[in-house]
Amino acid sequence: MRSSKATQKVGRARPPGAPKHPQRKKLPHDRPLWTRPEDEVFFITVCCNPRHKNQLCRSQNSREIFDSVEFRNRNHIWYAHLVVLMPDHLHALISFPYEQPIRQIVSDWKRFLATKVKIQWQRDFFDHRLRKEESYREKADHIRANPIRAGLIAESDEWPYFWVADPQKDNTNSEYRTLCRGAPGGRALPLIAAAALLVTACRHDMMNEPRAKTFAQSDFFKDGASARLLPLNVVPRGQAQVNDALHTGLTNGVYVTQLPTKLTPQLLGRGQERHQAFCAECHGRVGDGNGMVVQRGFPVPPSYHLERLRNAPIGHFFDVMTNGYGAMFSYAAQVEPQDRWAIAAYIRALQLSQHANPNDLPPEVRNKLEAEWK
Ligand code: HEC
Repeated sequence: MRSSKATQKVGRARPPGAPKHPQRKKLPHDRPLWTRPEDEVFFITVCCNPRHKNQLCRSQNSREIFDSVEFRNRNHIWYAHLVVLMPDHLHALISFPYEQPIRQIVSDWKRFLATKVKIQWQRDFFDHRLRKEESYREKADHIRANPIRAGLIAESDEWPYFWVADPQKDNTNSEYRTLCRGAPGGRALPLIAAAALLVTACRHDMMNEPRAKTFAQSDFFKDGASARLLPLNVVPRGQAQVNDALHTGLTNGVYVTQLPTKLTPQLLGRGQERHQAFCAECHGRVGDGNGMVVQRGFPVPPSYHLERLRNAPIGHFFDVMTNGYGAMFSYAAQVEPQDRWAIAAYIRALQLSQHANPNDLPPEVRNKLEAEWK
């Protein structure tokens, strides 16, 4: 039978009435969102398990640990400034990138070392963000003096388990630099691997490329501004504001009642085709409001054959397509003004098709039809 971890840990039963173990909360590691990572340094402490046993201050282990720190600097996983190993814990000053939680980055590192070097860690770690007024230098000196305070070395001695970032080395190692500058590295890296490296490794440099803010000062152009002004009276393509009936469906703020464009069989044909493309999926081909999208749950639009819509001025239909209406979106971006009129005209034809008045027909046609109905 498997026993849970919690039961394994309890050595013997606590006597009745004994104070409970203080329940340690998980330490808060996530950086507040308002902080700026580029000028932030965290003081990190990670402890080993059990305490008072030397796991870290051994030459092989320390080499592996410092290698893993440098690896992370090189690959922009973090930027470690310095690391001091003590026999059963370590201190470090580290800056972290924005994208990933600190907890995850440090946990990944601990897990890596636990597997690679068999270091046993305590759960979790301590972190403290250096406040503005706390000088980085002071903190660094304080950490460096740790082995002296612990009586491990004398004032004048060098502690061998101390690592400090070398900006020449860790962030811009030669391979990274050659790749970023695009110079042939002389290595037989497969093309894809090289491309992948470029994408990840150069990301930082590309993010920091020089760029100008629009209209900021610059000496590139003669007038000292970084961007050009538009020539007088130009209108960006597609942005012309035209206020006539053809583009609004209104004259003096009132819906037009007449089609502002010539009614032809071609226009009606175009209107039918556009209506089927853009409207029928909801409104149905005859405009009864029972299109396929509606059958699948979209709000039911009103039938074009309601008295209200039969009596609505044609400008209203143009306006509904142009500006949307309640739950219906605007079709101005998909359907050109001329086509919106074609659709409006076709809606009128649909309305007529369902409400034709026999008296409107020429007598001979009407007589013929009536003969057929009988
Ligand atoms: C995605 C579904 C959908 C599409 C596509 C659609 N509509 Fe609509 N339409 C609606 C809905 C829903 C309403 C009812 C909106 C409301 O009352 O909130 C509506 C309302 C209308 C109305 C009635 C406005 C009124 O006064 O009550 C007209 C006219 C109309 N649409 C025409 C069109 C035309 C023309 C097209 C094609 C360019 C079109 N619709 C495309 C869903 C759609």
